[in-house]
Amino acid sequence: METSEGQNQTPIVELILVGFGNDPELQPLLFLLFLVIYLVALSGNLLIVVLVVGDRHLHTPMYYFVANLSTVEICYVSTTLPRLLASLTTGDRTISLHSCYVQYYFYIILSNAEGLLLTAMCYDRYLAICHPLRYAALMTGRVCCHMVAWAWIFGISYCIMLHIFMLQLVYCGPKDIDHFFCDFAPVKDPFCGNTKILQLLTFYFSVILTIGVFLLTLTSYICIIASILRIPSRTGRQKAFSTCSSHLIMVTVYYVSSMTVYVVVLFNPPAILHKIMSVWFAVLIPVLNPVLYCLRNKEVHQVLRKALQKLAALR
Ligand SMILES: *[C@@H]1O[C@H](CO)[C@@H](O)[C@H](O)[C@H]1NC(C)=O
Repeated sequence: METSEGQNQTPIVELILVGFGNDPELQPLLFLLFLVIYLVALSGNLLIVVLVVGDRHLHTPMYYFVANLSTVEICYVSTTLPRLLASLTTGDRTISLHSCYVQYYFYIILSNAEGLLLTAMCYDRYLAICHPLRYAALMTGRVCCHMVAWAWIFGISYCIMLHIFMLQLVYCGPKDIDHFFCDFAPVKDPFCGNTKILQLLTFYFSVILTIGVFLLTLTSYICIIASILRIPSRTGRQKAFSTCSSHLIMVTVYYVSSMTVYVVVLFNPPAILHKIMSVWFAVLIPVLNPVLYCLRNKEVHQVLRKALQKLAALR
């Protein structure tokens, strides 16, 4: 009946996330791999949040940002990986269109919050190193709180705007999405209707945001490094650098991977490449945060050691 006039298809209410194929030998291996990654990301980030919330020594803007970033990472891995793990065990790769949108929106909100928090952390390091005398006056608890709040508000309002535009469109792309979570980016022409505005909006938005945030980060780090080089003593230089090196590594990995994604997407890559890059993003960055701060940061080391001693004493 629906084949008459224009309406030649039943509306799609369910999608298939192709994920990583259905090679039966590969599935348990992938399951184990992603399970380990998920648990590491979850426990590492949870540890950071507990340490920062629980220890007064870490009640500084820098660690508040780190803990907030960890919170974002926990949510981030929890939007993409559990669904993947479930489908790897059950072999059921269908997902309702509704859940797909929800997952997509969460993914967008969280990736925006992640990028903005990294930028806020950069601004924090910039103030601490380039304007150390005014740092306490400029980076107050309130300012820190506002920056964290804006990272969320921004992503959420962008998502609401996106949703308003998407409400007027119908998903009419392929039933199969060759990806492991609901990201419409790898799908060619996923929506029917007037998609021009949506395309322009998402394109300009991501370009402006990425370039803006990148330039901000770059200039901050140029100032930071120039200030560090001006410090006369070697130990002074090392000390100043050690407060921002974890963040510098994090930001470098983040931008190098984002740029790679943008450049590679220009060349219309095969779906498998897109998937590998998404795994890199969805997995590496959430694991990197706790690894960097737990392994490389002396203050976190001390707090962790104290916490472990307390735990041992309780026994
Ligand atoms: C996030 O940042 C806010 C504002 O600085 C802070 O009060 C809060 O404790 C942080 N969240 C976590 C989980 O540390």
